Amino acid sequence: MNKQEAKNRIEKLKKEINHHRYLYHVLDRQEISEGALDSLKNELFKLEQEYPEFIAADSPTQRVEGKPLDKFGKVAHEPPMLSLFDAFSAQDMSDWENRAKRIIKAQIALDYYCELKFDGLAMSLHYEKGIFTQGATRGNGKVGEDVTNNLKTIESIPLSLRIPHKEELKKIGFDLGQINKLLSAIKSGEIIIRGEALMTKKVFNELNKKYEKAGKKVLANPRNGAAGSIRQLDSKITAERKLDFYVYGIAGADDLKLQTHEQEIKLAKLLGLKILEGNKYCKNLDEVNKFHRYWEENRAKLLMEVDGVVIKVNNLSLWSVLGIVGKGPRYAIAYKFAAEQVTTVLKDAVWQIGRTGTLTPIGVLEPVRVGGVTVSHVTLHNMDEIERLDLKINDTIIIERAGDVIPKVVQVLPKMRVGNEKEILIPKNCPICGSRVERILGEVALRCTNKNCYAVTLRRLSHWTSKAAMDIEGLGPKVVEQLVKAGLVSDIADFYSLSEDDLKPLERFADKSAENLVKAIAAKKELDLARFIYGLGIRHVGEETALLLAERIRNQESEIRNLFDVLKMFQSIKLEQLEEIEDIGPIVAKSIYDWFRDKKDVELLKKLEKNGVLIAQHATRNTQQSKFIGKTFVLTGALSDLTRNEAKAKIRELGGKISSTVSKNTDFVVAGENPGSKYDKAIELGVKVLSKEEFSKITNLQV
Ligand code: IVH
Repeated sequence: MNKQEAKNRIEKLKKEINHHRYLYHVLDRQEISEGALDSLKNELFKLEQEYPEFIAADSPTQRVEGKPLDKFGKVAHEPPMLSLFDAFSAQDMSDWENRAKRIIKAQIALDYYCELKFDGLAMSLHYEKGIFTQGATRGNGKVGEDVTNNLKTIESIPLSLRIPHKEELKKIGFDLGQINKLLSAIKSGEIIIRGEALMTKKVFNELNKKYEKAGKKVLANPRNGAAGSIRQLDSKITAERKLDFYVYGIAGADDLKLQTHEQEIKLAKLLGLKILEGNKYCKNLDEVNKFHRYWEENRAKLLMEVDGVVIKVNNLSLWSVLGIVGKGPRYAIAYKFAAEQVTTVLKDAVWQIGRTGTLTPIGVLEPVRVGGVTVSHVTLHNMDEIERLDLKINDTIIIERAGDVIPKVVQVLPKMRVGNEKEILIPKNCPICGSRVERILGEVALRCTNKNCYAVTLRRLSHWTSKAAMDIEGLGPKVVEQLVKAGLVSDIADFYSLSEDDLKPLERFADKSAENLVKAIAAKKELDLARFIYGLGIRHVGEETALLLAERIRNQESEIRNLFDVLKMFQSIKLEQLEEIEDIGPIVAKSIYDWFRDKKDVELLKKLEKNGVLIAQHATRNTQQSKFIGKTFVLTGALSDLTRNEAKAKIRELGGKISSTVSKNTDFVVAGENPGSKYDKAIELGVKVLSKEEFSKITNLQV
C-alpha cells in the first residue's frame, strides 16, 4: 500500500468506525459485531502507527468513551468506574505480570482471582443502610445514567442486602473487627456494588421467537437486548426482558480491610448477590492460562455471552501500589478470547472442484486471525450466495469462525469500496481440466462436464507425493484430498506455495503438524530427475521408463540444472530419438513427446520452477556405488522386512535397472518367499537367482 492508498484507507476506516460507534454507544444499535468493529479499529491503529502524519484529532483511535444519554438523570461515580486493558496472548499476560512485578519491586509471587468477562453493561448499585437506593450505568466512567427503576425489575439484584451470619464471615477469613465494621456498614452506612447487567442466551432466544411471531423487530444480540432494556423509560418493558445481574466487585470497601479479591467476591455472595460459580483462584499465570483456554473452548456452555476472562491480582493491598493508568487499573486485565468475527479483504476468488464435479467458489483472503486460527481461505458456497452478499474481489468483508464451525463471510462493508473492486465471474472452463462448465438445471451449482475430473486430479496429486515419486511425509491421499477440498491445491505446483497459515485452520491440523508438513514439502524441493519425471504422471511412464529417460537426457551435452533445462531438453528430442531408447516403444514415445508440448503441461513446469522446485545434481558415483551398472534385476516373492520399494531403490542407487519380466537379458532374479513363475523362468533360462539374504549382503541392506 502506498502513502496515498494508506491515506484513503484511513479515511474510509474512520468514517466506517465512527458510524458503528455512534450506533453502538449512543443509539444502542449494532449493525456489526464488536469483534468486527475491533478489527477495523486495529487496522486503523496499525495504519496510523505506520503513517503518524495521518492521525487526526477526530480519529476513533483518539477517543474511547461513550456518551451519557440525556433522557436519564445523572449519577456521579465515586470511585470512578474503570475500564480494563486487553490482553490477547499468553505473551501479553506475562508482559502484564512483569510490569506489575517491576512496580511492586519486592520479589513476591503474584496470585490471581479469575472471572469471566461478561458481555453486558456495567452497573453501579448503591445500598444505603442496606437498602437499594440507586443504580446507574457506567456512562463515561465518571458520570452515568440513573436507571434505578429499571434495575429494580432485575430479580437477581436484592432490594435489600442480606445480613450474613458471623460464622459465614469467619469462614471467608473475617476477624471480629471486620465483622462488626461490615454489619454496621450494612445497618447504617453505604455499600457500593459493581457488576454486570446482562441478558442470558435463553431469554434472548425466547424473546426473539416471541418478537418474530408478533412481527416485531428482533434483537441483534443479548448485549443489545440488555442495553435496550436498561435504557427504557418504561420499566414495564425492562421487566418483560428478564435481565440478570452478576457482581464483580464491591467499591469503596477499603474500611473493611479485606485481604483478597476472592474474599470480596465471596462477601458479595453472602450479601445476596449473584456470582459466577466458574470464578477461580489461580496461584500463578500457568493456571490463569489454563483457565483462559478452558473457557475459550467451553464458552458455549455458559448461560450468558462472554468475550474473555478478567484476571485480577488477588492481594488487595497491592491494588493501590499498582494504581491506575489512563482508563484502567494495572491490577486487573481482560484476557480476551479470540474474536469470532473480524474484518479482512477478499483478494481473489478461485474455483474448487468437488467429488461430484461441482465447482465451488473459494475466497482467497488477506490472512487474518479469527476464532484462534489464521484464516486465508473461505468458502463462498455458490453464485447465489455471492450475489446475496453483493461480494466483489477487493471488498472489505466481515468473516466469522465460531467454535469449530468453518469460517464464513457474514457481510460486505460496501462503504469501504474505493473503485478497484471486481466482479466474481462464473468460469467458462473447469480450472482443473479445462473442460466446459455447465449450470445444473434448477440448481445453483456449477459442474465440470468432464466426469473424471476430480478423481483424476486427486490421483495425479497423490501420485506426485507418493513414496516412489516425491515421497513427501504426511502428504498421503487423505490429506491431499483435504487440501483440494479446501481450495488450496489444484496442481502439483501448489504444494510448494502452501504456508503454515493455510494449513492450521484445517481439521486435524495443529500448529505442529502444519509446520511439519510445510517442512516436509520444502525438504523435497530438490528433486531426483528420474523421480521427477515419474511424478509428472505422463501416461505409460512408470518408474523404469522414467529412469531410462533421465539417463537419456543426462547423457546430452548440456547440463540439467533446472526445470527449464528439462523442458528444453525434451522439446529438442525428436519422436524417433525417443523410440530409439531401449525398452521404449512407439506408444510410450508418443505420449512423452506430446506431454512436453502440451501448453497446460508446459505451464505446470513453469509454475513448479517459479515455486522453487529444482533438479538435484547427480553425485559422482564411486565404484561401490556403480557396481550394478548395466545389470538388470527382477524381483519376485515376498522379501519380508525389506520392502520392494527399498530393494528397488537400492538397486537403482547402485546403478542397476529393474525389469518386471525375466528374459535372457536379466542378470539377477531376487527371490523372496513363495516366488512365482518368474523364479521358474529364471531357472529355465539359467539366470542367476539371489536369495534375499544374498541380495542384502551384496547391497549392505538389513533384512
Ligand atoms: S472489573 C477495575 N470484572 O468490562 C475494572 N469488569 O472493560 C472494573 N466486565 O465496564 C471492571 N466482566 O462492564 C470487571 N468480571 C468482570 C467483568 C467486567 C465484564 C466489563 C465491565 C467493564 C468492562 C471493562
